[in-house]
Amino acid sequence: AAGPDLAGRHVVVSAGGTREPLDPVRFLGNRSSGKQGYALARTAAARGARVTLIAANTGMPDPAGVDVVRVGTAVQLREAVLKAAPDADAVVMAAAVADFRPAQYATGKIKKKDGEEPEPIVLVRNPDILAEIAKDRAREGQVVVGFAAETDDVLANGRTKLRRKGCDLLVVNEVGESRTFGSEENEAVVLGADGSETPVPHGPKEALAEIVWDLVGQRLS
Ligand code: C5P
Repeated sequence: AAGPDLAGRHVVVSAGGTREPLDPVRFLGNRSSGKQGYALARTAAARGARVTLIAANTGMPDPAGVDVVRVGTAVQLREAVLKAAPDADAVVMAAAVADFRPAQYATGKIKKKDGEEPEPIVLVRNPDILAEIAKDRAREGQVVVGFAAETDDVLANGRTKLRRKGCDLLVVNEVGESRTFGSEENEAVVLGADGSETPVPHGPKEALAEIVWDLVGQRLS
């Protein structure tokens, strides 16, 4: 790994997956474990950065030497990111943020009623946090990194997403039922807004994290 090349830098990393509640006991969620985000936080700390890790529903202990902010929903994740971003040299959005949330929250547990069909679940859009922070840079020269899990046309969809979100780097993973989510390993391509394309061979999530910080570091200096 590189030396303390991120010394004096503050980086914000989001990790995990949001849960969007339907009622006090149920939620819409996703399979993100948070391992990639934690790997990013650990490696940035090892390279000398001050790290704020915004963790959505992850079951892992706080990494040593990292400030951890725990959140549940996309709206809470947005609040935490916007609070930390003004002071950040880089923001890396590794969390799986729900695109939609239930329009209604039932304060009591939703019950089945004899002989009645269930109510449909109506969804509304969540804010796109990555697009928002990339558009309104809280700081000049701030590097904004997104992640994209794609199941097909990985590179083409990744390029489109990079442009749409306006981020500097987009880490594109191919995912499927048994790939990536919850796994210790990852395989990806990092796309740059400058047209660069950095393939990351199949390997530990730490190795991908180191490459992300290499690319971030190049853009900061
Ligand atoms: O659009 P998609 O969900 O594929 O984009 C993934 C990237 O955008 C991730 O970096 C994720 O953290 C971020 N995102 C976000 N806010 C959302 C949805 C995704 O910041 N509402």
